Order: sequence, then C-alpha cells, then structure tokens
Amino acid sequence: MKIVVLGSKGQVGSRLEGALACFAEVKGFDHAALDLGNPDAVRSALRSERPDVVVNAAAYTDVDAAERDEATATRVNGDAVAAIGKECRDLRAGLVHYSTDFVFDGRQSRPYREDAPTAPLGAYGRSKLAGERALLDARAPAIILRTAWVYSLRRKSFVSSILRLARERDVLEIVADQVGSPTFAGDLASATALIIYGLRGDPHGEFGDARGVYHLAGGGAATRFELASAAIALDPRKQEHRVTRLEPVATADYPLPAPRPAFAPLDCRKARDRFGVCLPDWKDALARALCE
Ligand SMILES: NC(=O)c1ccc[n+]([C@@H]2O[C@H](COP(=O)([O-])OP(=O)(O)OC[C@H]3O[C@@H](n4cnc5c(N)ncnc54)[C@H](OP(=O)(O)O)[C@@H]3O)[C@@H](O)[C@H]2O)c1
Repeated sequence: MKIVVLGSKGQVGSRLEGALACFAEVKGFDHAALDLGNPDAVRSALRSERPDVVVNAAAYTDVDAAERDEATATRVNGDAVAAIGKECRDLRAGLVHYSTDFVFDGRQSRPYREDAPTAPLGAYGRSKLAGERALLDARAPAIILRTAWVYSLRRKSFVSSILRLARERDVLEIVADQVGSPTFAGDLASATALIIYGLRGDPHGEFGDARGVYHLAGGGAATRFELASAAIALDPRKQEHRVTRLEPVATADYPLPAPRPAFAPLDCRKARDRFGVCLPDWKDALARALCE
C-alpha cells in the first residue's frame, strides 16, 4: 500500500510519516517539494506517485495572516483541495483531509457535531470551509477530519509558545474566555493511521463508503487559560521557568486580526462510532506530549 503525505513537515504531517510507515510505503512532500498553490504540480505529482491513499496535512494555517491575504489562503485551502479530491477520484485513491473548528462561529453552548451549521468568522475558516465543500460537492472519496487547537512541542504552537514565554517572563496574560478541544498532533496522526489501516482492504471503495465530515480532537474541553496553566504545571523542565503568575484576560483585551470562535469544542462520537477511534483526554495527552 502506498500513501502520499502532503505537508510532511507540519505538526501533523511530520508525525504521520512514522505512524503510517508501520503498514505502508510512505512518500512525503513538504512545502518546498510541492506547492499547493500550483495545482498543475499537485496533479502531476499525484499522477506520477499513483498512491492508494493521500493524506493532506498541508494548509495555509496562519489565521491572522489569512485576514490580509485571503486569496492565497483560499488557493491553498480551497482550490488546491478541490484539485487533490478530483485527482484522488480519478486515480481511485482514498483521501484524508483535515479541516477545522474555525468553520463554526462559536456561539453554540454545547460541543459541535458534524451537522451543526457552519458560519466561519474569518478568512481562514472560510477558506477551510471552501475545501470541505469542494470535496463534498465532487463526491470525492474523502474523509474530512475536523480538528482543533493542534499543538506539538517540536513545532511552533500555542503550547510551545507558552513554555517559551514561561522561561522569559514573570507574568503571562492568557485568554480565559475561549473554549476548545486541545489536540496533540501525535495522537491525531496515530488515529489517522488507524482509520486508514481499517480501510486498507479496498481504499477507494471503503473511503467512498465512509466519505464525509468527522470530528476528531482531543477529549474534553479547556479554555486557553486552563491549557496554558496545565502546560506550565506539567512541564518536566519546570525548574527553568521564570513565570510566577498567570493572569486571565478576555479576548477583547487581546485584539488579533482574526476573530476566534469563543466556544468550539468538537463532539467526536461520529468518528468513534464509524472508525472505533477517539483521542485521549486533552490533559493526559498533554502530560505525555510534555514528556517526549
Ligand atoms: N494547528 C491547529 O491548531 C489546527 C486546528 C484545526 C485544524 N487544523 C488543520 O490541521 C491540518 C494540519 O495542521 P498543522 O497544525 O499540522 O499545520 P502546520 O504545522 O502549519 O503545517 C501545515 C504545513 O503545510 C505547509 N504548507 C503551507 N502552505 C503550503 C503550500 N502552499 N503548499 C504546500 N504546503 C504548504 C506548511 O509548510 P511551511 O510551514 O513551510 O509553509 C506546513 O508544513 C491543517 O489542515 C490545518 O488546517 C490545524
């Protein structure tokens, strides 16, 4: 079985190669090797590799920069995804694609299920929703995994930034009125590999049968403040910290170019029921991630 991973140097992509190599031949493409902004290059790379499955972990993920350059975000997160989906259909390959909680406006008061109405607040969310819709409209054999608050200690992320700041500052101000599902990139990659493994008998047919949107994020929910507090408390290198106090602040006190959904934990029961996978509780995952 051959699997192509796009975005192989990102938080999730860099974890996928190891997880998938347990049962498949894996060919990774990073941004330098394959630019999703160039659909012809994407098509010709996939045609020459002829994979059984493609995992698209590449994306324009800078949510604030997307507000200034929505055209590029849409090209990478929307148009390129449409081209990948069409190519997978033509090559009879399955596709795993990641999407985001930013497709929601965050005004709901219970965790979001897959069929909840989408209403992105900003350019990144709109561009990711365009990618989802392109795959669904084309009836591509695509499993769309909406995830949230992905972190890795090996790459720049909310958690790695908090731990860096904890070494540099005495007081950290952390937003306390945004709630989400923190997701360890390593767990998301492992669960993705399990899903693909379960469908490996006839990837095109089985991905076609399972195609659609699934939520897959760390178990439970946390505020940014709770996530930062836990990361600092659980850090095995705590003796290096300078920080003595965390100050909860409101989103309104910390203006950023892109609006964030205030409440967007994901209800992941559909993926559990269909594929038998769910990610561990966010705090257990964080403790494990910090010990790596
Ligand atoms: N991070 C989160 O909190 C989060 C939350 C919800 C959903 N997601 C989704 O989960 C998936 C994986 O995210 P992640 O956290 O692993 O993101 P990431 O660490 O930012 O990785 C994305 C990768 O895509 C590459 N990339 C960007 N533009 C590209 C282009 N034009 N052509 C080819 N590659 C390009 C980046 O390379 P360069 O860095 O070299 O540009 C990077 O290696 C994405 O679909 C993302 O939208 C992420």
